[in-house]
Amino acid sequence: MKVCDYIAAGKSRLEGARLECADPLLHMRQMVSAGMGWTTTQLYLHWEETLSSEALVKLERIVERRLTGEPYQYIVGEEWFWKSRFRVGPGVLIPRRETELLVETALQRCPSHSFKVAELGAGSGNIGITCLLERPEWEWHGFESNEESWSYLDANRRELLPGSAKYQIHRGDFFDLASRHGPYDAILCNPPYVKQVEWNGLSKEVRSEPRIALDGGISGLEVVSRLFRESVFLLSEGGLLALEIGNDQEEAARQLASANFFAESEVLRDYAGLPRLFWGKRRKG
Ligand SMILES: C[S@@+](CC[C@H](N)C(=O)[O-])C[C@H]1O[C@@H](n2cnc3c(N)ncnc32)[C@H](O)[C@@H]1O
Repeated sequence: MKVCDYIAAGKSRLEGARLECADPLLHMRQMVSAGMGWTTTQLYLHWEETLSSEALVKLERIVERRLTGEPYQYIVGEEWFWKSRFRVGPGVLIPRRETELLVETALQRCPSHSFKVAELGAGSGNIGITCLLERPEWEWHGFESNEESWSYLDANRRELLPGSAKYQIHRGDFFDLASRHGPYDAILCNPPYVKQVEWNGLSKEVRSEPRIALDGGISGLEVVSRLFRESVFLLSEGGLLALEIGNDQEEAARQLASANFFAESEVLRDYAGLPRLFWGKRRKG
């Protein structure tokens, strides 16, 4: 079978599988390029060529996994975030484009000299590693309780950061460990914030990701509320709490901020115009 015919047939198979996939043709091109180790240009150079039987077996392994609803990023083992390629796979959250708003805002607003940050839920390390690549003077404490994520976090830190970078990985629960290493100038994080009842309605792809990374309990705000309460003791005076939030959690975040001594708090919108980022400072005194 020719490359172009394999892609056209795969497009129809993807369409029939009801996956979360906005452009099945583009998706097939990506899978074939990834499977063959080709760039986009190379894909077009091979477009009319016949695939060998070994190549077909290799590509079928990828496409079959995708047809079961496994996320594309887990199959190819990587996802881009900001300017870097992060290793990902089953057991770690796939970095999301909307989380770049947290990074972008932190880089714009936080000092570029020494700055000590704690992160609940480092996952693949995407937020902290990106910040340290842009701000080498910062010190990052990434806490991660999900054992399955640790190997990705280790690999990404090793591969993407220079040895001199100040990124400390803490394996365990943020609420047990964070006070041992504080106080911090900031807590920056993307906590789990999906309501428990919404889990079954999520796509197959999203449900293949670790539930602990997304499930924020009955209200969706269990981890977030606890973070607000405890950050008062973890942050230095005037310290910053910046959290990604769900687009229906703006009001709840504002209430939690005023109940927990945060000043200058605001909610920023993402590129789709939806509330996405809580930003607030611990009151002085
Ligand atoms: C929404 S994911 C964010 C992962 C990554 N920072 C990102 O933006 O892609 C939340 C992460 O928090 C971790 N987590 C949840 N509760 C935690 C806790 N109490 N202590 C440490 N990590 C926790 C989860 O395992 C998951 O990796």
